[in-house]
Amino acid sequence: MSNKRPETKLVPVPSVNKIPERDVDKSPILEAQHLGIDFGGLTAVNEFNMAIGRTEIAGLIGPNGAGKTTVFNLLTKVYQPTRGTILLDGLDTAGKTTAQVNRMGIARTFQNIRLFDNLSVEDNVKIGMHNTIHSGMLSSVLRLPSYWREEKIAHQRALELLSLFDMQDLANAKAGSLPYGAQRRLEIVRALGTNPSLLLLDEPAAGMNPSETAELMENIVKIRDTFQIAILLIEHDMSLVMGICEGICVLNFGQIIAKGTPTEIQNNPEVIKAYLGNGKEV
Ligand SMILES: Nc1ncnc2c1ncn2[C@@H]1O[C@H](COP(=O)(O)OP(=O)(O)O)[C@@H](O)[C@H]1O
Ligand SMILES: [Mg+2]
Repeated sequence: MSNKRPETKLVPVPSVNKIPERDVDKSPILEAQHLGIDFGGLTAVNEFNMAIGRTEIAGLIGPNGAGKTTVFNLLTKVYQPTRGTILLDGLDTAGKTTAQVNRMGIARTFQNIRLFDNLSVEDNVKIGMHNTIHSGMLSSVLRLPSYWREEKIAHQRALELLSLFDMQDLANAKAGSLPYGAQRRLEIVRALGTNPSLLLLDEPAAGMNPSETAELMENIVKIRDTFQIAILLIEHDMSLVMGICEGICVLNFGQIIAKGTPTEIQNNPEVIKAYLGNGKEV
């Protein structure tokens, strides 16, 4: 491998995007162009333009109600956009369903934990893997050899993924019995089970204590490095966002008010105003 820096190659993306240097000579994994959605009379997101490099850790921040989760819901087709285009690995996702974009490579976690509490940790991970398991309903009902082959692979894969977070020994525990921090980690493992090329994390550190948050930061970087995937995260914990994100996009009232590196964002007067302002005098 050569350490030579790429010459001034630019990706054809809207001007203010910053893709990490190691990704600049590749096409972005995700491009959102002029994305928007209205709920009745309310414009929740408008003119959302963003590109994410293939191995980038990117952040989406903004005050409560800014439209961050709505962006995730648009990217994952929980909502169909009113306006705009979403390209995943160059392919237009218009008209696709949530399951289809998941198979195309987008996986997510939710702001509020959504696990099957009464199923085991391992089964929760396997549910995430269903899109990569091929044996059909009939072979699983009849327990055909192809079912057992895939079941064995799924078991090994689930343990391998759990071991990323040192959770392999919890495989048989009920998901609902895990402490809060471990449930949040399990959600990430389950999302990874679908083999994503882009992982969306909605407030992964919410409710975590500082040491859990610090560990989570290391794990997010480890996931990126191990799987060489892109990660877009929504987070209020600024130590996490500024510590690991390479590009940050700030939303306020559904509009992007700033994009840039952590240093640029921290020094941006618009951003400071959006966070400190909040309608209150400070
Ligand atoms: N399904 C929906 N119907 C109507 N309004 C919605 C819907 N989903 C989100 N909104 C509105 O969109 C705005 C952005 O919400 P959200 O994306 O959850 O914000 P954030 O995640 O940044 O806190 C809010 O005003 C919210 O009430
Ligand atoms: Mg939200």
